[in-house]
Amino acid sequence: MTETKFLLPESEIPERWYNIQADMPNRPEPVLHPGTGEPVGPEDLAPLFPMELILQEVSSEAEIPIPEPVRDVYRLWRPTPLYRAHRLEKAIGTRSRIFYKYEGVSPAGSHKPNTAVAQAYYVKEDGRARIATETGAGQWGSAVALASQLFGLECKVYMVRVSYEQKPYRRSMIQTWGAEVVPSPSEDTNAGRAILADTPDSPGSLGIAISEAVEDAATREDTAYSLGSVLNHVLMHQTVIGQEAIAQMELAEAFPDVVIGCVGGGSNFAGLSFPFLREKIAGRELDVLACEPAACPTLTRGPFAYDFGDTSQLTPLVPMHTLGHDFVPAGIHAGGLRYHGMAPLVSQLVVDGLVRAEAYAQNDVFASAVAFARSEGIIPAPEAAHAIHGAITTAAAADAEGRERTILFNLSGHGHFDLAAYDAYLAGDLEDPEFSEADMEAALERLPEAPAIA
Ligand SMILES: Cc1ncc(COP(=O)(O)O)c(C=O)c1O
Repeated sequence: MTETKFLLPESEIPERWYNIQADMPNRPEPVLHPGTGEPVGPEDLAPLFPMELILQEVSSEAEIPIPEPVRDVYRLWRPTPLYRAHRLEKAIGTRSRIFYKYEGVSPAGSHKPNTAVAQAYYVKEDGRARIATETGAGQWGSAVALASQLFGLECKVYMVRVSYEQKPYRRSMIQTWGAEVVPSPSEDTNAGRAILADTPDSPGSLGIAISEAVEDAATREDTAYSLGSVLNHVLMHQTVIGQEAIAQMELAEAFPDVVIGCVGGGSNFAGLSFPFLREKIAGRELDVLACEPAACPTLTRGPFAYDFGDTSQLTPLVPMHTLGHDFVPAGIHAGGLRYHGMAPLVSQLVVDGLVRAEAYAQNDVFASAVAFARSEGIIPAPEAAHAIHGAITTAAAADAEGRERTILFNLSGHGHFDLAAYDAYLAGDLEDPEFSEADMEAALERLPEAPAIA
């Protein structure tokens, strides 16, 4: 029996982020201005983002130094542990070796602070005093509230109304860390007021909340907008996960055959997998699997096309897999995976065959989450449970073929605020909402006019 935990000292917190744009065979197409159809330039983005982040977004440097004040905050929880899932392996009776990197040890309970801290640092350096952002289930909002507090910034979070009502404790965390949080759609923005006038009892959506936060930031000079996934710089900030994991797998004297993550907008998946993909691009054999919900199957069913990142069509046009910007995914409990689009970097890597994707039904995912909790102890976030399910099905397939594989997945967060979902599962009340092909087709009819992409 080898060890269970593989730990690194603080001195091994990575000193650089890895920018996969430098190595990928095809860089994503440019993001376009919806009015002109021309690529968006730094001056278009400057009202929303600090210039340093805009430069990171388009950088072709393979490595970008992590500022020391950011590494200093990372010390609060990084390096995160890497575990060998001995007990899970035994419980499911696999011959494969399963490892997981655990990001739930951050103060907010997920991988999100890795980029929230970096973004707050650059906002402060840029001389702004305030951040506006949106949150779905509350993970991102709590990460930004924490990061803003640590860098002395004000913070306003537009939280999707259903989550605001169903997850009062995420709301309390946001407030404890000193931020303001309002249910979205809200009366505080034109976008929110327009939706409330039309649909007074709107449950909200991530797309709507993005519209509100973008409008807030665009209309106030002291405010930057902060996004928790999808953008190139956000994915890059998460690569501390994979860099640490490579060093920890070395301690375990192993290298994975399969690297797995769940995908909402793509950031935790990118964080773990991009440093490994660097080796795959250089010729090493590796299977890289992105796991998504069957109710929101962006990579497995959505076309690769230009679309808006938000419902109210305020963002630039983004080249990505999409279900259509006004497609509203069914109300599954993995709220962080209910997004119509996907990071352009992840989308492009799927198109180029470097990453593959699978979609799983909610009850199957919870069965794996409970099997994991009962063997490894940690109760996973429903989002992260998609990666667990991916690992368990990959191990079962290997067993059926008589193969032994080394599987590594990202456990992106804990599920301590998701226990209502576990209640529903344990009571047998959890639904498997059907994905509506017709709704997707209708939403795709409304894709913006833009050049076709290969
Ligand atoms: C724990 C957890 N995992 C995964 C995700 C999905 O986001 P991403 O695909 O950007 O990692 C979220 C989003 O809220 C999350 O909270």
